[in-house]
Amino acid sequence: MEQKKPIKRHKAMQPLSREHHQGLLLSWKIRTGISKGVSAERIKTYLNWFYATHLVPHFRTEEKLIFPILGNDHELVKRAIAQHRRLERLFNTSTDLDRTISLIEEELEAHIRFEERILFNKIQTVANEQQFETIAKLHPESKFTENSNDVFWE
Ligand SMILES: [Fe+2]
Ligand SMILES: [Fe+2]
Repeated sequence: MEQKKPIKRHKAMQPLSREHHQGLLLSWKIRTGISKGVSAERIKTYLNWFYATHLVPHFRTEEKLIFPILGNDHELVKRAIAQHRRLERLFNTSTDLDRTISLIEEELEAHIRFEERILFNKIQTVANEQQFETIAKLHPESKFTENSNDVFWE
């Protein structure tokens, strides 16, 4: 049987993949908080900080630097952009918080898995060296900053 080798992430795109790791951790923090009985208000306060500090810049980088390589009319890019808009609406929702944070947990994880397993692999196969150089230059590695005001998942 043919074995599919996982595609290695190009060095220029590794900082974005590390941000995805933090995003998956965010979904884990939400699940842990819910199972520990932490209030939706406390979790949402952390989500608001994470969204403004980490996700808004991440979405912006993808939409300005990564998605245009494939083109905004490409089906996979359209799907990713629609997921960004949907997540933005959820993060900006302050009602029905139990349901809202559950949807964020599910949909953020699904979005990241889609980018890591499908979209980024596709983009990597069409990008040229100059585009990789631009990504590396405009989006270098940066250290993740945590907000330790209320570590409800510990
Ligand atoms: Fe994204
Ligand atoms: Fe992403």
